[in-house]
Amino acid sequence: MTTPQTIRFADVDLDALASAEGRVAVIVTPDGKLDQAARRANRLTKGAVARLADSKRWDKAKPGQVVTLAMPAGMAAEALDVVCLPRRPSVDEARRAGVALAKVQGDATLTLAAGSTARAEQVALGLALRAYDFADHRTSKDAPDPCSATIMVSKPDEAEAAAAPLLAVAEGVFFTRDLVNEPANILTTTEFAKRLSDMEKLGLKVEVLDEAEMEKLGMGSLLSVGQGSDSPSKLVVMRWEGGTKGDAPLALVGKGVVFDTGGISLKPAAGMEDMTMDMGGAGVVAGVMRALALRKAKANVVGLVGLVENMPSGNATRPGDVVKSMKGDTIEVINTDAEGRLVLADVMWYAQEAFKPRGMIDLATLTGACIIALGHENAAVFSNDDTLAGQFLKAADAEGEGAWRMPLGQAYDDMLKSPIADMKNVGGRPAGSITAAQFLQRFVQEGCPWIHLDIAGVAHVKSDTAYAPKGATGWGVLALNRLIADTLEG
Ligand code: BES
Ligand code: MN
Ligand code: ZN
Repeated sequence: MTTPQTIRFADVDLDALASAEGRVAVIVTPDGKLDQAARRANRLTKGAVARLADSKRWDKAKPGQVVTLAMPAGMAAEALDVVCLPRRPSVDEARRAGVALAKVQGDATLTLAAGSTARAEQVALGLALRAYDFADHRTSKDAPDPCSATIMVSKPDEAEAAAAPLLAVAEGVFFTRDLVNEPANILTTTEFAKRLSDMEKLGLKVEVLDEAEMEKLGMGSLLSVGQGSDSPSKLVVMRWEGGTKGDAPLALVGKGVVFDTGGISLKPAAGMEDMTMDMGGAGVVAGVMRALALRKAKANVVGLVGLVENMPSGNATRPGDVVKSMKGDTIEVINTDAEGRLVLADVMWYAQEAFKPRGMIDLATLTGACIIALGHENAAVFSNDDTLAGQFLKAADAEGEGAWRMPLGQAYDDMLKSPIADMKNVGGRPAGSITAAQFLQRFVQEGCPWIHLDIAGVAHVKSDTAYAPKGATGWGVLALNRLIADTLEG
């Protein structure tokens, strides 16, 4: 599937540094101090590490950066990577060191002598996150070999225990990235539901609602989106019950449009291939659920994803059609390309009716307008609850995932008025991501703390980000996992 990095922790073995093959990495502090292993590497290389540490080059080195000494004399390794890190790095510095090492690693075996430098488990997470490569559809000559890393630390058992939950979350991120990177001819609604059902093995309870069941529930809004596709629409419910029995769960809701052509309001050809990532919200929900199960989180969380394909056809929804949501409100479909909100409206309503959640967070690649507003640096955060929004923003900041709060308000909601139905599905060009959020808020019940995350700009990017190679990022898995750990497991 992915190219996983196998990471293990071991005792520091200075004698192994001379004979280790592949790459060897040692740590030097920003002010040029060598630890025991760096001193050993320095001795083996007849002073090369100390010369680097004393050089102008090192004056410019930032925590988390790596300087490579290629083919070092006196060592068997093909490269000696000198990592710039203070003895007590921040989470971000430690992760960036792991990312920097993964970037130069290729398919070589890596031996990192971290000794007693703190947060080795965060270095491991950085290594894991950046070593990801979606190679499934490249023929074998191009496919990279799986790589492995050994991190030598003074207390391997402690480092291993600290790394385990982080590497579980990394698995969740990879699951999200794989789903988002997967083309739509392979990740059909049926295949998506199957991959989610497979997570029952991990202890999740997974239920798949088919079109007939959704019809019975009155989900005319969701069903109107998928009716032009040969792939059947599905609603998948994933439950993780690791918390106190009977405690109301947090609900995570994801937009899972496996491909968005725009429908009869067809999108232009240029760039339409990117719409294979329009299930990004559902992908993040799935990744979080996987992470929770893998690390056996002590929390009750339910993940719900609406899986549909938005296609034009003889029985596709037309602009001007009026559909009825499960809530009972009618919607005039002005533009069939504003389909994500039609899906979420019914899934959100169902989530609240079926699970009476303590809070609800939806994620969606919802609007191009969100990319115009915030680019690829931040997801847009909309909320009816300052406490929940504050907790989320704090978690996102701690995990280095960009998130920026946006406004809601009556004047924006008024833009959704329809002359013939309870609302229309678009509000016009101004404030496009806000009117989309207003539409969703109409399906949030009184007293339910709610966050809407528009991840159109951050789910999939065209150049490398801090922790991810270009393509699907898995944005949000780390932040939501932390929010759950901080607020439900404390
Ligand atoms: N999936 C798109 C939004 C999108 C655009 C995500 C670009 C990622 C990158 C969504 O379904 C859509 O088409 N939105 C329309 C809404 C409009 C018709 C009101 C848009 O943003 O143009
Ligand atoms: Mn669309
Ligand atoms: Zn869409």
